[in-house]
This record gives sequence, structure tokens and C-alpha cells, in this order.
Amino acid sequence: MHTVTLIRGDGIGPEIAESAVAVIDAAGVDIEWDEVVAGLDAVEKHGTPLPDQVISSLSKTKVGLKAPLTTPVGSGIRSINVELRMRFNLFANLRPAKSFPGIDVPFKDIDLVVVRENTEDLYSGIEHMVTDTVSESIKIISREASERIVRFAFDYACKKGRNKVTAVHKANIMKLSDGLFLDVAREVADQYPQIEFEDRIVDNMAMQLVLKPQQYDVMVMPNLYGDILSDLCAGLVGGLGLVPGANIGENGAVFEPVHGSAPKYAGKNRANPGAMILASVLMLEHINEKEAARRIDTALTALIKEGKHVTPDLGGSSGTKEMTAALINLLKG
Ligand code: NAI
Repeated sequence: MHTVTLIRGDGIGPEIAESAVAVIDAAGVDIEWDEVVAGLDAVEKHGTPLPDQVISSLSKTKVGLKAPLTTPVGSGIRSINVELRMRFNLFANLRPAKSFPGIDVPFKDIDLVVVRENTEDLYSGIEHMVTDTVSESIKIISREASERIVRFAFDYACKKGRNKVTAVHKANIMKLSDGLFLDVAREVADQYPQIEFEDRIVDNMAMQLVLKPQQYDVMVMPNLYGDILSDLCAGLVGGLGLVPGANIGENGAVFEPVHGSAPKYAGKNRANPGAMILASVLMLEHINEKEAARRIDTALTALIKEGKHVTPDLGGSSGTKEMTAALINLLKG
């Protein structure tokens, strides 16, 4: 029996969380869910977006499954997603984007992994108004965090039998901050001679990814570039409904879809539960339930390939509930 912290999130979060919990249960994994509330719902219930219960649950279980949380644009609460990553030092954000047979996209053989630094860069939240009309956001890049994330990317490549790591940066313009990231990436790469290494400037990388994505394998980059390019990679494989993410630190991990709370679909039984289910697959691998993870992954791939019971974003007409029920049937059948 495992104990896992569950955050159902808001927007489409509760629907896709329900789906993931049902699928994990159908795969026969015994999980006790320690359910806690964060984000906008927590402000209503507990007066704060990140109540102590969330912190104490994750400190205890060390593994979380989290649906998306809405972050108001401009004023309002700071992102709880960012806050959690910082609080638990979940320094590595792993976002694998893989082609699914049956999805009509220009490229059929994509297998990319974005490794995004999760704790600094322009997400440090250090912003202020310099004058009434000028604002300033500080970009932090440290040797320590850069080395830790690049090493994580190379170790991941070794563990998963991958061949190449590409460091993504803008060191031609940000010579000190991205320059430091690139210098450190080159130093770490020298310690992994078995893995090919190259670097790309982020704007060129964006173009290369939509022209010849098959050239790339594992990509490692600072926070902001990772946020943007991982959505681009999601688009390459059919959209945000199919890409999971893992936030990993030395003392814990939180698994979630790459996508947000898609408020316009909230409560409409329209959201694709795929990314949340794939996040559960990563979570099950993490807690050593590898066989259940493999079964869920195989069943979801088959369901998407068949295309009869998928949500509208994948070209189907099923709801979240119908897609989940069909997946459970496949798993049990
Ligand atoms: P979003 O990812 O929620 O939506 C982008 C587009 O993709 C929308 O058209 C949406 O309807 C569609 N989409 C996303 N997930 C889908 C799914 N599972 N099935 C079908 N369609 C799906 O991004 P957006 O609109 O920028 O953000 C909405 C809210 O989510 C914001 O408050 C944002 O801060 C938050 N957010 C939270 C994240 C997290 O909790 N980790 C990550 C990204 C955004």
C-alpha cells in the first residue's frame, strides 16, 4: 500500500483527477490518497492558497499527484505550482512528448524529453516597479542550479538509454546568465563522453523543433524556455491533452499534466484526461509500480489509436467520463 498526496485542482482538474484515480484503481494498485486542497478553492476554504495541510502531506508522503491549478493573470495569488516547486526544491521538471499512433499530426515519430530547470530564472518572483511606468523582473541563473539540472538531464539520458542531450539558451544576448548556464552545461557534458552533446540558441531551437523534431532527444534548459518549448513539443504530438510532467527533487516528486486548468471546459465533461493519466503513469513508475504503469500506458495508446472513445481535442466525440470508462474496460478486459 502506498500513500500519495492528491490535489484535485480547479477548472477541469477535478474531472481529470477523478479519471486518473479510477484508472489507477482499475490497474489494481493499492493507493491511499491523502487528499488536500490548494489554489483558489483553498483560499475559499482555508483563507490561503497553500494551506499547511498541503505542505505537511507532501512532507510525509514525498509523492504527489496534482491536477492543474488556476493562477490569475496580473494581480492576485502567486502561482501555487511555482510555489510548490520552490518550497520542496523540486528542481527538475521532466516533460516527455511522444507520438501516439492514430493522432493526425505532421510528424509521426517524435520522442522528445524537455528537462526544465524549475527553481530559478525569471520565475524567482523578484519583480518591482522601478518608476510608475517601468517594471523590472530579475532573472536568476546560478552555477549550482544549472549544474544540478544538466547533471539530471545526463543521468536521465544514461538511465533511459538515450543518445543525445541538447542545452538550450540565449547566451548570445544574456552573456552572463545564460552564458553561465551554457558554460556549466559544457563542463558537465565533458563528464558524460558516452552521450552526444550540443547546444542551440532558443529561437533557432523553436524553428528546428517544428521543422525536424526527430533530430532531438533530451533537451535541457532554464525555466522560461522550458515552459514555452514544452508546450511547443506538446503541440507536435497532438496537443496539451497528451503530455505529462514530473517535478522531481531530492526529497520528493509531484506529478501533473503539462496543461493548465482550461477554465472554459470546467464541468463540461470535455477535458481530455490523457495527460493526467500519463502523469499517473510517471508517478507509478516513480513508486516502483512499473507493471501497472506499463499496462495503463499500453491501454491508453491502444485507445487513442482506435480513436472511437476519445475527447474532441483528439478528433473524437466522447466525454472525459466515456473515455475513462473505455480505458478501464481495456485495462480489465
Ligand atoms: P491551459 O493549458 O489551461 O489551456 C490551453 C488550451 O488548451 C485551451 O484551449 C484549453 O482549453 C486546452 N486544453 C488544455 N488542457 C486540455 C485538456 N486536458 N483537454 C482538452 N483541452 C485542453 O492554459 P491556459 O489557458 O494558459 O491556462 C489556464 C489556467 O491554468 C491559468 O490560470 C494558468 O495559470 C493555469 N495553469 C496551471 C498549470 C498547472 O497547474 N501546472 C500549468 C499551466 C497553466
